Amino acid sequence: AEIDNSDTYVTVLKSRTDVLSKYVIDCLNKYGICVIDNFIGDSKGTEVLEEVIRLRTSGVFTEGQLVNSTTNSTQEIRGDVLTWVDGREAGCSNIHFLISSMDDVILRCAGKLQQYNINERTKAMVACYPGKETGYVRHVDNPNNDGRCVTCIYYLNKDWDVTKHGGMLTIYPEGQDQVANIEPIFDRLLFFWADRRNPHEVRPAQRERYAITVWYYDKEERAEALKQTKGQNPRKVAIPLIKNATGNGK
Ligand code: OGA
Ligand code: OGA
Ligand code: MN
Repeated sequence: AEIDNSDTYVTVLKSRTDVLSKYVIDCLNKYGICVIDNFIGDSKGTEVLEEVIRLRTSGVFTEGQLVNSTTNSTQEIRGDVLTWVDGREAGCSNIHFLISSMDDVILRCAGKLQQYNINERTKAMVACYPGKETGYVRHVDNPNNDGRCVTCIYYLNKDWDVTKHGGMLTIYPEGQDQVANIEPIFDRLLFFWADRRNPHEVRPAQRERYAITVWYYDKEERAEALKQTKGQNPRKVAIPLIKNATGNGK
């Protein structure tokens, strides 16, 4: 009998999403942090990086903003430049594939990440620390229950050597005397709880450092946050998650 390769391929990826999501469930529930290496592979990762560099060159990146801050020296707090994409923009099809792959993993975790009911996410934040000692001081992504429960970061930095280039992400899990040092290496995916359990900082980078970040919303916390602001000016755009967006995760 002939082997149907396309079927085999889909089956492999399907079970990989399964394996990954089980790992994410275990890791996040135990440690609040989860790292996956070789997430989409060299060639897809390289295509994503090329799209990101084209975006950067096109001039759409602007300085990162601070919320709830009275200081006017933003650059002393965060030195990144960034742009928001949903992946459907021209020239972003590989970024779209990446985001959909993240969504597949999270959707497969449904009902098993604490009490969370995750049905929406932000757009993707494409960020670059331009080197020259730029970083982001210690902070919490969601200190005030804005609805975001999981931070998901994909790193794009080939041949990154933290001893030469800096740029380490250091997480200080609440109530623990250990820190988690995460090197921002190419094709690495990171998940962590976005609330006060995970203060973190980006150490000064000496080389251009690229990452794509998506925040996933908990339905209830997001609804409550929208009620608090009476639907006025919700800071974050919310995009519904679509099952099997890559076609690999049925
Ligand atoms: C952020 C952030 C971490 C990183 O943008 O909020 O903490 O490793 N980024 O890029
Ligand atoms: C956000 C945001 C901008 C955009 O999600 O916080 O600033 O263009 N989005 O969607
Ligand atoms: Mn952060």
